Amino acid sequence: MNGRRLARTDRVDSATVSSSNAEREKRAAAEAAAELVEDGMAVGLGTGSTVALLLPALAARGLEIRCVATSPATEAAARELGIAVEPFDRLDRLDVAIDGADQVAPDGWLVKGGGGAHVREKIVAAAAERFVVIVDSGKPVDRLTPPVPLELSRFGLAATLRALGEVELRDAPPSPDGGVIADYLRPFGEPEALSARLAATPGVVDHGLFPPELVGQVLVGRGAAAEALRLRR
Ligand code: 5RP
Repeated sequence: MNGRRLARTDRVDSATVSSSNAEREKRAAAEAAAELVEDGMAVGLGTGSTVALLLPALAARGLEIRCVATSPATEAAARELGIAVEPFDRLDRLDVAIDGADQVAPDGWLVKGGGGAHVREKIVAAAAERFVVIVDSGKPVDRLTPPVPLELSRFGLAATLRALGEVELRDAPPSPDGGVIADYLRPFGEPEALSARLAATPGVVDHGLFPPELVGQVLVGRGAAAEALRLRR
């Protein structure tokens, strides 16, 4: 009886330790990225739990910066911390964008969109001089695997789903731009080929495969420190 109780406690402890380790690594990467931001910069803020740790680190630096946010959640959290956020219709370029990722391949391809914000995230990353990706050590992978997040137009949805094949609609609210969030589930080889196919499918607003050309730097938290991932390009 005693032994059983101890074993269960051990399992809970190890789950707690590994999730708190991931949080520590996310924080290390987020804090390293916050140090890259300088006074006067225009900054793109991504979405997700790693970006949630970036925001206080950025606020603590007390810089004069202009920011755009990739989601209402990031915008609200940034404002709460005193970071001014403006609509992304006046700035036509950004100095830096900082965002998390779900998977990072050795050659720099990313899967993003776990939070369904990949359309705005890609627009912001593409507008930035430098796109900095912040992840914990569980995100670098040998090769990308499904799911690949999608945003689909509501109009013609059934026809788009038929054209795409193995896609699951996500139980999530529409994107802030009214798109339907879904996931492409079929295993794939070259991300470039899938990226081209998804982009060429009418009804796909955009997808969560980000090409290496977009990626400036990947900062990975390992334990309490962050290191720049060496990408094979
Ligand atoms: C949201 C994203 C996130 O950046 C990605 O899902 C990683 O999230 P987290 O930092 O919570 O691990 O692409 O659309």
